[in-house]
Amino acid sequence: MNLTQQTILITGATSGIGLHLAGRLHQMGNQVIACGRNQQQLDQLAAEHAGISTYLGDITDEQQRQELADWATTHYPTLNIVINNAGIMQQVDLTQPIDPAKVMTELVTNLLAPIHLGGLFVKHLQEQSVAALVNVSSGLAFTPLASVPVYCATKAAMHSFSVSQRHQLRDTSVRVFEIIPPAVGTNLGHQDNYDNSKDQLMPMDDFINAVIDALQTDTYEAAIGAAEYLRQQRDAVFSQINP
Ligand SMILES: NC(=O)c1ccc[n+]([C@@H]2O[C@H](COP(=O)([O-])OP(=O)(O)OC[C@H]3O[C@@H](n4cnc5c(N)ncnc54)[C@H](OP(=O)(O)O)[C@@H]3O)[C@@H](O)[C@H]2O)c1
Repeated sequence: MNLTQQTILITGATSGIGLHLAGRLHQMGNQVIACGRNQQQLDQLAAEHAGISTYLGDITDEQQRQELADWATTHYPTLNIVINNAGIMQQVDLTQPIDPAKVMTELVTNLLAPIHLGGLFVKHLQEQSVAALVNVSSGLAFTPLASVPVYCATKAAMHSFSVSQRHQLRDTSVRVFEIIPPAVGTNLGHQDNYDNSKDQLMPMDDFINAVIDALQTDTYEAAIGAAEYLRQQRDAVFSQINP
């Protein structure tokens, strides 16, 4: 898809992948709406990129998700790309009793929120001649890192969901992308997730280049860098059970 003069909303744009993607998409001549929970970081992003719009909100809150969708579609009627990028990753020790509230936060942030946001925007997106929902999963959706088991499960679920969402929307103007990142150096899991060995991390600029390329070339399921190696299984049966 063409990636200039689009109107693009991105969640989790206050740090890491979302922050860099927002900046790049803005540089490319798109109207970017950057969403996040940290007003100071949103203000900084807006100051560094004149013309970027910002929106403060917590995607774990159902009412705030609704308010975001209402606000964005009212103020930006040309909105045609929604990037579900916000996410968290928590270590969970499965040999110990589980704190359900902690698990729920991860489930809601990584799974319920992007599913709900897709539903909140889908009618508006279908009214655009070209539109996209972009879900950010992970290479860990395919091969889990056992120390972050709930995270991996949510990302596996987002992969499955994206396949179904893409199929159900196949006859509409809405294309569904899944970006499958490898390890990239960000604040995710406060960097306690990987062993922090720098050579395991894909440089952010290279990663953002690959994301832009995937979107521009209509690569709907884009496993980037080492994520391709983590993706062990293909959904060959999908077309058989979904004629
Ligand atoms: N980095 C990697 O190696 C990697 C690998 C595979 C997949 N991913 C995926 O890439 C996406 C971006 O992660 P990242 O690596 O860039 O991590 P990050 O630097 O920690 O950024 C995560 C973003 O999500 C936002 N966020 C978290 N909870 C939120 C909430 N309840 N409401 C609104 N915003 C919220 C954060 O905002 P706050 O600053 O307010 O917390 C932040 O802007 C995630 O979906 C992640 O799973 C990353």
